[in-house]
Amino acid sequence: MRRHQRKLVYLLGFMGCGKTTVGVLLARQLGWPFIDLDVTLEAGQGMSIREIFDRLGEPFFRQIEHAALREASRSEPAVIALGGGTFVQDSNLEFIRFMDGITVWLDCPIEELERRCQGIDNRPLFRDAASFRQLFAQRVPYYQLADFRVSTGGRTPQEVVDEILKLQVF
Ligand code: S3P
Repeated sequence: MRRHQRKLVYLLGFMGCGKTTVGVLLARQLGWPFIDLDVTLEAGQGMSIREIFDRLGEPFFRQIEHAALREASRSEPAVIALGGGTFVQDSNLEFIRFMDGITVWLDCPIEELERRCQGIDNRPLFRDAASFRQLFAQRVPYYQLADFRVSTGGRTPQEVVDEILKLQVF
């Protein structure tokens, strides 16, 4: 296995897979800073993710998401939680590969993702079960491009972190 040179971990996966929860714990245990891309976008715009989508539109969201990704990647070491759509934008994928960090897909069964996202209002792309599943199916081929896949379904955040730490890339 190739040993990564950069101390950058990108957590990716669909909405509700645990990127933020796992990222906070992982960063704490590594003693590295944690950056949540969505949080930096909300802080930068002074609006919630839903408001950014509603008022400024998804294309604008994707532009500032790319800029935030570049900015976050200047920190090293860092654990960076991407948004569910970050890794599926070609320019982001290309940039992340160029950065030569470690990409970890937090994979979770769709039923559990649906359960976790229901009733949460700040996810503009969670409209209904059918479109949620369709989006998930479109994105899985991208998520599969990550260096590592870790299952999060039915597991505690700490169990997920333990598995990531066992990857022996740190
Ligand atoms: C999105 C996922 C969200 C957020 C935005 C768009 C997506 O992040 O970036 O609503 O395209 O799947 P989470 O995956 O953290 O919910």
